Amino acid sequence: MTSNSSRGINLASQGISLKALFTGYLTVVAVGYLMAIVQIQFTHGMADGKMGLSVDDIVYSYYGKRSGSLIESKLNGSMQGMAPEEDRLKIINWVHQGADEQAFHDTGIREIMDTRCIMCHNADSGLPIPDFTKFEDVAEKAETDTGASFSSLARVSHIHLFGISFIFMFVGLIFSLSTGVPKYLKAGVIVMPYVFLLIDISSWWLTKLNPNFAWFVIIGGGAMGISFAFMWTVSMYEMWILPRKGVDSRNALLDE
Ligand code: HEC
Repeated sequence: MTSNSSRGINLASQGISLKALFTGYLTVVAVGYLMAIVQIQFTHGMADGKMGLSVDDIVYSYYGKRSGSLIESKLNGSMQGMAPEEDRLKIINWVHQGADEQAFHDTGIREIMDTRCIMCHNADSGLPIPDFTKFEDVAEKAETDTGASFSSLARVSHIHLFGISFIFMFVGLIFSLSTGVPKYLKAGVIVMPYVFLLIDISSWWLTKLNPNFAWFVIIGGGAMGISFAFMWTVSMYEMWILPRKGVDSRNALLDE
């Protein structure tokens, strides 16, 4: 027996309903993947004030911009559009001058916060973001930026570990029914996202401690994307383009 094509279930031999199910799933997951990339551009891509994800963005997001405060880097990054230039500069100036409580009220920072920020940054927003109705919370973000907090890393890490491994369970399962890829390459591609997911996420933590690990975040994420694209393309190809030669109902999971 050479491969799945002679015996055993394979993608090309599946009936239309199972192919429709697999295709629906793969399509939605691919759109989800694109959305995740868009979201990364918004949260991390702007960390250095420039569009597009770079190593600096990763360093600023996880290690922090140790020369400045989080409030300043966000106002030059993902929060840039939330207030006009003038108000942003006022806040940044206030931070540079020591983020003093008296000045917070006297120089109109409280007012800017109230009109521009607290509609999202309040205790009832349900978002995991600081509450800027309280001076203490604003002051905390005006301190030296040490990047992502350990609690937010723990939260985002476990969500990604559970969520992404689940997605790759099904993408890998569908791809495992393909026949055109040599056995060891196939097993390698299936296990690759799991290995690189661990590298990616452990590098978030390592980058918090040492900025040189930012490269591994990029490598981990990139390798995950490559294996996803590979499994996706091969699976779609074998379902819809590969001729169903020697199709046998014994090779299908369902009759139709
Ligand atoms: C439309 C809703 C919205 C408005 C308005 C808004 N923010 Fe945000 N803010 C967010 C979201 C969502 C995040 C988390 C994503 C991110 O970090 O980009 C965030 C994150 C932040 C963070 C990082 C907090 C942390 O602990 O990681 C700072 C600092 C911040 N905002 C400052 C401001 C300031 C200052 C203003 C007003 C000029 C403002 N934001 C207005 C939604 C908003």
